[in-house]
Amino acid sequence: DTANKVILCRAAIAWRANAPLSIELLEVDPPKACEVRIKILSSGICGTDLHILEGRNKVPLPAVLGHEGAGIIESVGEGVTSVKPGDKVLMLPLPECRECCFCLHPKGNVCVKEDVLSPTGLMLDGTSRFTCKAQKIHHLFGTSTFTEYTVVHEIAVVKIDDASPMNKVCIISCEVPTGFGAVFNTAKVTPGSTCVVFGLGGIGSAIVMACKASGACRIIGVDINEKKFPRARALGVTDFLNPRNLKKPVQQVVVEMTGFGADFAFEAIGLIDTMVAALESCRRSYGVCVIMGVAPNREQLSFDPQLINSGRTLKGGFLGEYKSRDCIPKLVTDYLQKKINIDPLITHTFHFERINNAFEKLGKGKIIRCVLLF
Ligand code: APR
Ligand code: ZN
Repeated sequence: DTANKVILCRAAIAWRANAPLSIELLEVDPPKACEVRIKILSSGICGTDLHILEGRNKVPLPAVLGHEGAGIIESVGEGVTSVKPGDKVLMLPLPECRECCFCLHPKGNVCVKEDVLSPTGLMLDGTSRFTCKAQKIHHLFGTSTFTEYTVVHEIAVVKIDDASPMNKVCIISCEVPTGFGAVFNTAKVTPGSTCVVFGLGGIGSAIVMACKASGACRIIGVDINEKKFPRARALGVTDFLNPRNLKKPVQQVVVEMTGFGADFAFEAIGLIDTMVAALESCRRSYGVCVIMGVAPNREQLSFDPQLINSGRTLKGGFLGEYKSRDCIPKLVTDYLQKKINIDPLITHTFHFERINNAFEKLGKGKIIRCVLLF
């Protein structure tokens, strides 16, 4: 029985940016009040984890990265009621406290207890549950999944169906709601519409699937890596544009292809230039542009305000605007009932200890989404 004891386990530690992760023995403290300790079974690797490792987006280091995880509750702290040891759970990069103004608002999902906007890398009491080589190790977004065991707040974890295939459902922690919600909740794509998707990686692929499910009749995919095209075509992309092979700016080509621009544009890359290109690709009067990519720290967006004056809407949202604890278990059930499909989004699986190989391949654009198995 490990409850109330420190667990010594293997974890991938990011000591600093621009260096490989190092697999180390990590001491994981027992959960305090309103916290749970989880044995991780699988974790996705998201573009955001890569951007942190590349130093493009800053979080406190050293840290255990990873924020899409599936596992089993090992033990719970005092006062925890929503989960118990043995439950299958998903970890949530956005918590849902169900008490703050955002949680109580019918549309709000960026809970005041988040640690995503200006990450502290610490639990809500200002301390960490991780120690390695006598050093404090930070958490990431209140999750940290590149480890055999982690500690998260009860409000950042949710029980899922016992029948869930744990080697797959981890991506329903982030990639799936982010991509599907961008389409279903934020843009509200309508049947017969034309969509353009910038970036055909993990998030962009989920967006394409949801556009198709919403009845979009034309889906233009934009990516500089043409190896992404065959796969994206199978998911629903009808036309491809590689900006590097065009003589004109890609947004101009989209406008010419569609008359006045797309009804809906999505940015799933995380660059300022492609965000503006996405906005300029959608049509005046009622075009909607949704930005899902996360730009490098401190960069500013700048565009002609007439784009907005003339009726375009620019939107964004974390986790596809889903209320995490309320909605994510339902997405898992929808998957089990075959109402949604997530299988095409997972292109690779690696054993956890090969995490650096996975990051290397992701960095080279050879992976849509990889799942680490523990
Ligand atoms: N123009 C077009 N496509 C580009 C460009 C560019 N200038 N630069 C990169 N891409 C493509 C890559 O080739 C890749 O296919 O964008 C895609 C990005 O996909 P991933 O690396 O798989 O990243 P993903 O996990 O989908 O995340 C995308 O969303 O959640 C955020 O932080 C995340 O900002 C990131 C974005
Ligand atoms: Zn809240």
